[in-house]
Amino acid sequence: MTKIRIGVIGAGLIGRKHLRKLAEHGDYELAGIADVNAEQVAAEQPGARVFADYRKLLDEARPEAVIIASPNQLHAENGIACARAGIHILIEKPVTDSLETAAGLIAEVRKAGIRSLVGHHRRHHTQAKALKALLGEGRIGDVVGVSAIWATHKPADYFKAAPWRSQAGGGPILINLIHEIDFLRFAVGEIVAVEAIAANRQRGFAVEDTAAALLEFENGALGTFFLSDCAVTPWTMEQGLGEAPEFPFSGQSSYRLMGRRGTIEFPSLDQWTQEGGAQDWNKPIQAQANHAASIDPYVVQLDHFRDVVRGVTPSLQPVEDGARSLLVTLAIAEAATARRRVDLRERYAALGQGE
Ligand SMILES: NC(=O)c1ccc[n+]([C@@H]2O[C@H](COP(=O)([O-])OP(=O)(O)OC[C@H]3O[C@@H](n4cnc5c(N)ncnc54)[C@H](O)[C@@H]3O)[C@@H](O)[C@H]2O)c1
Repeated sequence: MTKIRIGVIGAGLIGRKHLRKLAEHGDYELAGIADVNAEQVAAEQPGARVFADYRKLLDEARPEAVIIASPNQLHAENGIACARAGIHILIEKPVTDSLETAAGLIAEVRKAGIRSLVGHHRRHHTQAKALKALLGEGRIGDVVGVSAIWATHKPADYFKAAPWRSQAGGGPILINLIHEIDFLRFAVGEIVAVEAIAANRQRGFAVEDTAAALLEFENGALGTFFLSDCAVTPWTMEQGLGEAPEFPFSGQSSYRLMGRRGTIEFPSLDQWTQEGGAQDWNKPIQAQANHAASIDPYVVQLDHFRDVVRGVTPSLQPVEDGARSLLVTLAIAEAATARRRVDLRERYAALGQGE
């Protein structure tokens, strides 16, 4: 089968990771790269066609598909240009920088009929798929609630390197929590309302360093989420899964999913139930292990995108769905500022996704 000719817009931190994975992948052929730092990128990527203007990549190299790994503010513009040129897109998270630009992108993607995949790579982990399947087959009965943590200590250099990270919008809600929200939507179900509080007392930046959110799911489950980028803990999904060497493996579960008949921890997938499916606090509870192999989610994401581009499988996350994860995350930031519950149902409809 012929290889997919693919372009990459933005060869920064994640763009370079995609380029490394593409170089090792047998089903893709690099058509070219677009980055405003064209000279530096050309020096780093010998043999690749590098364009300073992404429109030239689309017009001259004519890729069949593109990975959009540019800064958030450019995602919509890049994605719309690809749609108008009939080019399929793997677009990094967050899908765009606002709900308005997301609605514009969704409209153009639909009009052009191109295929899209949002880069929430955690959905591709075997453990995430296994959890969804275990919940789906009723291993723990109806899900009653979720207790989740994402807490780690970002070093001082992280903020020195990019001053926008200590300003509004650069905090852990929009950068880190969006991944967790997307994972919860994928595994547990749609989120229909949120409440939250946030604080900046530890670092004293304009942006939050710690937050706590309450989640209401469409299926009736409730959730609590504790988030902090200034606490030393083993409880982030990155550490628990060991998905990248820069976040040393802890193997600890940061999620507890509790149901009428038992509990599953994630990512360990340890399951707690009572004998014979009992639901009785006077009866002993025992653990059972579930196995799911560890994989490289960025490679599996590329495998999936190949099949999406070829029309073999529907996208695990088209732009419409990526916009929903953005919507929930923005609502948590809003709820923390306004100190009130935010109902999301009408907002989903306003995204142009009314049923
Ligand atoms: N899925 C993940 O694991 C993951 C991880 C990190 C970042 N991201 C997302 O990927 C995107 C990029 O993040 P990053 O950390 O790689 O940022 P980065 O700043 O390291 O890289 C962005 C790149 O885009 C280039 N660029 C800027 N303007 C451009 C333009 N007009 N045309 C072409 N290129 C342009 C920059 O020169 C830079 O090389 C963001 O949306 C981010 O949220 C996803």
